[in-house]
Amino acid sequence: MKRTPEPELMEEKEQVISYDEADFSEGEVKLINQINHYLLRKNISLGEKDLIVDLGCGPGNISEKLAIKWPNTEVVGIDGSKEMISRAEYNKNISTNKNKLKNLHYICSDIKHIKSNNFLLKKRISLLVSNSLIHHITNLEDFFNTIRSLSSNSTVNFHKDLKRPFDENSALELKAQCSSKYNEILTNDYYASLKASYTFKELKHFTLENDLSSLEVFEDGDKYLIVYGNV
Ligand SMILES: C[S@@+](CC[C@H](N)C(=O)[O-])C[C@H]1O[C@@H](n2cnc3c(N)ncnc32)[C@H](O)[C@@H]1O
Repeated sequence: MKRTPEPELMEEKEQVISYDEADFSEGEVKLINQINHYLLRKNISLGEKDLIVDLGCGPGNISEKLAIKWPNTEVVGIDGSKEMISRAEYNKNISTNKNKLKNLHYICSDIKHIKSNNFLLKKRISLLVSNSLIHHITNLEDFFNTIRSLSSNSTVNFHKDLKRPFDENSALELKAQCSSKYNEILTNDYYASLKASYTFKELKHFTLENDLSSLEVFEDGDKYLIVYGNV
């Protein structure tokens, strides 16, 4: 299936509310575990000197889980949508874990324009994460240029995203499954996201052609792709 890009930022209020109210916790916990396993395998433990950055953090679900999992680190979530960032700040404030989120801060910025000299990014980034972001980025080189510019050679990158279905029928099947759980706005967004997603081949090809072969790309089940390693 040919890729159909979607708008990068999620700025519509209804869209943000639908996304925020959905329960994606199973996938979020799985992602935190996958990152944790990878760090353990690499013998990396994160502490006071470490900064974790969550790109395209949306309402902050993953950022909060990162901040709780690695309580001695600093965590910064970045999103270009004002609506998403105010939701993330709101969620942090009303969280029953509020006292465990003092190490978490948010920046409202397009990832393409974020500067590593932003005062919240004064430490070198130890772990650079994103979830469900890559498919929003119109040009793959914008995503990879961003992670390259934010990473040092010791930064662990871990980026998970949807995988583009093989054909329209498979996309419609996934859309139908989504509609049995989520509202119409979220279902339509999910369908648009599936069509905007990249394939394993596209991501792998990009890394090989752009001197990024130290990054691994793999298929996580039949719906997801993960890009991880150092740049
Ligand atoms: C599908 S949501 C994922 C949110 C969160 N990572 C999660 O897993 O729940 C994608 C988010 O990426 C943000 N985004 C997309 N393109 C962006 C860009 N160029 N710069 C900053 N944020 C971006 C959108 O505004 C949206 O909040």
